Amino acid sequence: MQDKIDYIESVLRKYLPKKEGYQKVIFEAMEYALMAGGKRLRPMFMNEVYMMFGGDDKEIIEPFMAAIEMIHTYSLIHDDLPAMDDDDYRRGRKTTHVVYGEAMGILAGDALLNYAYETAAKALLCPDSADRAAKAFAVLAKKAGVFGMVGGQVTDVSMNSKVPDADMLDFIYRLKTAALLEASFMIGGILAGASDEEEKELEMIARNVGIAFQIQDDILDITSTSEVLGKPVGSDEKNEKTTYVYFFGIDKAKQDVKKYSEEALDILKNLDAKGDKTFVEKLINDLIYREK
Ligand code: IPE
Ligand code: IPE
Ligand code: MG
Ligand code: MG
Ligand code: MG
Repeated sequence: MQDKIDYIESVLRKYLPKKEGYQKVIFEAMEYALMAGGKRLRPMFMNEVYMMFGGDDKEIIEPFMAAIEMIHTYSLIHDDLPAMDDDDYRRGRKTTHVVYGEAMGILAGDALLNYAYETAAKALLCPDSADRAAKAFAVLAKKAGVFGMVGGQVTDVSMNSKVPDADMLDFIYRLKTAALLEASFMIGGILAGASDEEEKELEMIARNVGIAFQIQDDILDITSTSEVLGKPVGSDEKNEKTTYVYFFGIDKAKQDVKKYSEEALDILKNLDAKGDKTFVEKLINDLIYREK
C-alpha cells in the first residue's frame, strides 16, 4: 500500500509546476494542498482498474491519475472555505485558506482544477491512444462538473439547515462523492480498452463504493477524532447538515456501508476483466472498516 502511495505521489510531483515567477505563491499553495498526504484512493483505483484490464502504458494513465487527484484536492480546498464548511484542518495541516488567505484559497482551487485539465490533455497527445484519451477526458470533465461533483456540492450546500428526503440524500452522495470515483474506475477501464458495457459496470461498482465511502465519512465525523482523521470532527453538526447518519441512525448507516460495498463487490465478481481483481476487491473490502 505504501509503495502504491509513494508511486502516486511521485507522479503528482512530476507534473507540479516549478515554484517561480510573479505568481509563485499559487504554485506553493497548490503543492501545499496536493502534497499534504491523503489516501490517494482515486488515482489508486484508476491505476488498479487500468491494470486489471491489461493496461500498461504509463504515459497515458499517469496524466489522468494526477488530474483526478488535483480535481479531488481542489474540491477539498473549496469545501473547507468559510463560505462552505468553514473548516480549519485538512490532511493533518491547516487548510489552504487558513495558511494563504481566503483569496489565495479560492485561487489555489481554481488553479488545481484548471491544471488538472492541462495535465490530462498531455495524454491526448499520445498518438496510439488518442481516441481512448479523448473519451476519458470527456468522462473526467463530466463527472467533475455540474452533472457530477459540483452538482452534488451545490445540492449539499443548498439543503443546509433543511431536511432532505432519502431521494435527495442519495442524489447528493452519488454526485458529490461517488462521481469522482466513477470517473476513476471508468477512465481506468476506458484507457485500457474496456467495452461500453464494461464501462457501465465499472461506473456502477464505483457508485456503490462512493456512496458507502460518504456514509462512512459521515459516521467518522461523529465517532472519530481529528488526530486520526486529520480533519475536524463534528463538522456536519456544526453546519447543521442532515447526513445519512442523522437521517437513518448510526446502525443503519453502518449496515448500509456494508450493503453498498457488497453490491460493488458482486458486480466486480461478475466483471469479465482479463487481469487480477484481487487488489481492487481487497481495497473495497478494507474501505468498509476504514478508520480514516
Ligand atoms: C474526503 O475524501 C472528501 C469526501 C469525499 C468524503 P477522502 O477521504 O478521500 O480525502 P483524502 O484524499 O484521503 O484526504
Ligand atoms: C465533501 O463532503 C465531498 C466533496 C466533494 C469535497 P464532506 O464535506 O463531508 O467532506 P469532508 O468531510 O469535509 O472531507
Ligand atoms: Mg462539505
Ligand atoms: Mg467538508
Ligand atoms: Mg464529511
